[in-house]
Amino acid sequence: MTIGFIGFGNMAQAIAKGLLEKQLVTHDELLFSNQSEDKRQQLMNTFNIKGTSSNQDVWDQSDIVIVAVKPYQMDEVLTGLDKTAHPFVISVAAGVTNAQLASHLKASAFLRTMPNLNSQVGEGMTAIVDNLDVEQSDLDKTKEIFKAVGEVVELPESQLGAFIALAGSSPALVFMFIDTLARAGVKYGLTKEKATKIAAQAVLGSGKTVLETAHEPWTLIDQVSSPGGVTVEGILSLLKDDFASSIIHSVDAMVEKNESMSKG
Ligand SMILES: NC(=O)c1ccc[n+]([C@@H]2O[C@H](COP(=O)([O-])OP(=O)(O)OC[C@H]3O[C@@H](n4cnc5c(N)ncnc54)[C@H](OP(=O)(O)O)[C@@H]3O)[C@@H](O)[C@H]2O)c1
Repeated sequence: MTIGFIGFGNMAQAIAKGLLEKQLVTHDELLFSNQSEDKRQQLMNTFNIKGTSSNQDVWDQSDIVIVAVKPYQMDEVLTGLDKTAHPFVISVAAGVTNAQLASHLKASAFLRTMPNLNSQVGEGMTAIVDNLDVEQSDLDKTKEIFKAVGEVVELPESQLGAFIALAGSSPALVFMFIDTLARAGVKYGLTKEKATKIAAQAVLGSGKTVLETAHEPWTLIDQVSSPGGVTVEGILSLLKDDFASSIIHSVDAMVEKNESMSKG
């Protein structure tokens, strides 16, 4: 199965790295197009895959084409292709809707996806937007591709705003939490380097604990909070300072902003 990338920047490279590391494809089964010749040669050497200046070559030679150009470039790139060949198309472009893709492609021939930044380290969270016209086998292949860089959920397009807040943007909130926790550790004498490592690993492990135990977070909070102990003091202090409201207000702000941007 040949997978071609039109555009080979940060997101496409993260996906290609995951596909190769998980051995879902061989180096011969990947190819990409981009514009800058200097970068192309360097990327061909780094990934040991074929690169070209021609989007048409990628289209004609691939079973699946992942279009990973900037959202504003999408219409121009798709319009510029001779679509005699029929590869299955996966868009990763933020804000490019099913309707926009359907104006260029057959309804059964594409899926809109929304990966996140953490795909770069194999712990991404990707939404695959529902498209009822797509064959199950194409949906399965798309899931397999994104599982190479993390986890996958299927969502209706109407819930993408919430997804963008909870997974697209939330890494920034979590980085802020890690930095604040670490800074508070510095107050008590830890170096920033050690404090950041401790806080980041605690967040990583906590996420893994939620996913692997499948317990509700509140059950886990109760498990960690011994009666009269240290942790319950911290939890009650956060509740008193409206921690939950701050997070909910932040999600509200992101969902509202996404809606206003979608309306143009
Ligand atoms: N980065 C993320 O965390 C993230 C998360 C979710 C979704 N996305 C989506 O992923 C897409 C790519 O984002 P990115 O961060 O990877 O951007 P990026 O690093 O700037 O990559 C864009 C790529 O497109 C190439 N390109 C530009 N014009 C082209 C054309 N006409 N034909 C072929 N290739 C062309 C660029 O190559 P040259 O530099 O050689 O021109 C570059 O390789 C965007 O639509 C974005 O919304 C990204």
